[in-house]
Amino acid sequence: MLRLGIIGTGSISRDALTPAIGEVDGATLWSVLSRDKANAARFAQEHNAASPAPAFDDLKHFLSDPDLDAVVIATPDKLHAEQTIAAAAAGKHVLVEKPMATTVEDADAMIQACRNADVRLGVAYHLRWHLGHRELAARAHRGDLGDIRFARAQWTFQAPNAANWRAHDEVGRWWSLAGVGTHSLDWLRWMLVPVCGEVTEVASTITRNVLGSAHDESAAVSLRFESGAVAQFVSSALFVAPNRGEICGTAGYAYCSETIGRGGGGRIDTDNGQISFTEVNPYAGEIADFVSAIKEGRDPEVSGEEGRRNIELLCEICPQ
Ligand SMILES: NC(=O)c1ccc[n+]([C@@H]2O[C@H](COP(=O)([O-])OP(=O)(O)OC[C@H]3O[C@@H](n4cnc5c(N)ncnc54)[C@H](OP(=O)(O)O)[C@@H]3O)[C@@H](O)[C@H]2O)c1
Repeated sequence: MLRLGIIGTGSISRDALTPAIGEVDGATLWSVLSRDKANAARFAQEHNAASPAPAFDDLKHFLSDPDLDAVVIATPDKLHAEQTIAAAAAGKHVLVEKPMATTVEDADAMIQACRNADVRLGVAYHLRWHLGHRELAARAHRGDLGDIRFARAQWTFQAPNAANWRAHDEVGRWWSLAGVGTHSLDWLRWMLVPVCGEVTEVASTITRNVLGSAHDESAAVSLRFESGAVAQFVSSALFVAPNRGEICGTAGYAYCSETIGRGGGGRIDTDNGQISFTEVNPYAGEIADFVSAIKEGRDPEVSGEEGRRNIELLCEICPQ
């Protein structure tokens, strides 16, 4: 049984990550690190953490537990690098939430620290574990859509105000791009890079200050791939609309409705009929892959290098 400790007791830890750990055979929630020990204890109890002493408010102390195998980092983006590097130095494997860092230098340091310590590093892009997406990726990669010419993704949310930490510099760098745009970017790269080559050109339009944040509130982004394929994605903290994904090639197309989100459902239509898939929890797939990667001594499917490329592009898309 692989013992996982979670860092941060916010929404994604509560709503997605700990339930997902509970679904995965061979993994257990072991301990919890929070800024507040009573909160860690409450969270540990609510989520049945297995350690006899599961609650911590100090990173070093949390990591010094010899029974802890790996950590899942679900804190604000600017904290990921320091926490990953400390975990690696303590010999713990790391699954870090997206975006893995807020600078390429930090992403490099995280990769290096995990390499030096010979621990696995994975980045939590759960859309890759949606079974409809996996079937679509297989089809796109084996050429069922012909040469891919165009793809598009849209995932947005509506924030009531700029109170969220992503809207400010202290522990955030990007807002809509870090909240959801980074997922769309990963989805597009996952679908296209194997057959279209890397992203070679980026153009973006960013809006700020509708809600009073200096960070991106909406971003409209265009990408060009080596093959000449083009793609677009939109992220926003200003409105909610149905999430969408689209891939168009010389031999076919696919439209994804409500698959780019937190769940495993939605619908995918192609020129050749609907893709049928089983609705599973994509976060459980992500945790299961991380656990298998540790057991098999391989990189998780979304490695530190994949996460780093996403950061490199986010830095180009929205440099400040
Ligand atoms: N993959 C996905 O679908 C997905 C979805 C949402 C978020 N995320 C990622 O997960 C990470 C956490 O996001 P979230 O939405 O869960 O955020 P959140 O609800 O604000 O929770 C973040 C947690 O981090 C801890 N924390 C430590 N220092 C903090 C600080 N200075 N300010 C605020 N919180 C601090 C807090 O836990 P304690 O109070 O216990 O210290 C807090 O509850 C982010 O990197 C985000 O991009 C991923």
